[in-house]
Amino acid sequence: MHTDKPLFTPGPLTTSLTVKQAMLRDLGSRDFEFIRIVREIRQELLRLAEADDRGYEAILMQGSGTFGIEAVIGSITPPDGKWLFVVNGAYGQRMLQIAKALRIDAAAVTFPENRPAVAEAVAMALDHDPTITHVGAVHCETTTGLLNPIQELGQIAARFGKVLMVDAMSSFGAVPIPVADWGIHYLVSSANKCIEGVPGFSFVLARRDMLTQTNGYARSLSLNLLAQWRGLENDGQFRFTPPTHAILAFRQALAELEAEDGVPGRAARYRHNYEMLVAGMRALGFAEYLRPEDQSYIITSFRYPDHPNFDFGRFYETLNGKGFVIYPGKVSDAACFRIGTIGRLYADDVRALLDAIRETLAEMEVTL
Ligand SMILES: Cc1ncc(COP(=O)(O)O)c(C=O)c1O
Repeated sequence: MHTDKPLFTPGPLTTSLTVKQAMLRDLGSRDFEFIRIVREIRQELLRLAEADDRGYEAILMQGSGTFGIEAVIGSITPPDGKWLFVVNGAYGQRMLQIAKALRIDAAAVTFPENRPAVAEAVAMALDHDPTITHVGAVHCETTTGLLNPIQELGQIAARFGKVLMVDAMSSFGAVPIPVADWGIHYLVSSANKCIEGVPGFSFVLARRDMLTQTNGYARSLSLNLLAQWRGLENDGQFRFTPPTHAILAFRQALAELEAEDGVPGRAARYRHNYEMLVAGMRALGFAEYLRPEDQSYIITSFRYPDHPNFDFGRFYETLNGKGFVIYPGKVSDAACFRIGTIGRLYADDVRALLDAIRETLAEMEVTL
């Protein structure tokens, strides 16, 4: 049962009552219990990435997902380093903006927003510019909902001897990502996406042997990945005030993920939500922006229907009035809106949303 409107968005997401209740405590940042919880969370994150005993470290970083990405880019790039970012949406573009803001040399290999990246084109870009040292790519481009072929990009990065960072913000926890097997050196995700915690921190999974070679590279005091890791390793503490309540919520969220049979169980629920949503939306006359084969079960972009009475602002407001929160589009070349199928949402929620959309179309006199 929800006490707030269900969030069919890319995050923050609807969380369980028990995740919210886990925050009803005040733990000090030096409390032994808190330090133990942080250690257990770090261990569990490695397990989720199938990376325990594979030479990886999990580092929690205060702030939203973008802070985690900025911490990695700003902390692991040597003074003469250069990035190649794989761009087919707003989040690939954002990595490029971060590098620019930090005055780090960067180039982009760009693909259309409705197509996954092509690994061989990335290989050609690397071949063209041997000064590139690092590659950054987004796994689920939440802009549209498409999935990029990270495993193939991992092979390309390995072939050219480049460091690979993956933004797995909206996929980690719901899509299996074996970081070591896929050749990912740094992965970034956040507390309030598919693990179903609350906002407050991001986390980085980093290959230890690479991380330890980045001494002196950080361009920020607070977003210093190596220093953050050393702090957590030395005394289990954050260097600056930790988001204690968000961490307590996250521990409960991880327990609930485990109770759902881990990543495969969560993937099955989200996939079911997605399949119900798309079948229902098609029956109502909507069309998806992406080809089904490129589409994840995380979030789906739907084109505005071709009807003079359709107005997204009114559609959104009316649905909101009926108790459902959807999301505007983000693609630059097509009029779309998005519906997320992640978070503590079940088939009944999707069914109720579809009923509300049907009613809304009738009220707007949109016949499709
Ligand atoms: C793929 C991806 N990268 C980065 C971000 C940015 O995360 P945040 O808004 O938590 O900074 C998001 C947020 O939705 C995302 O989906």
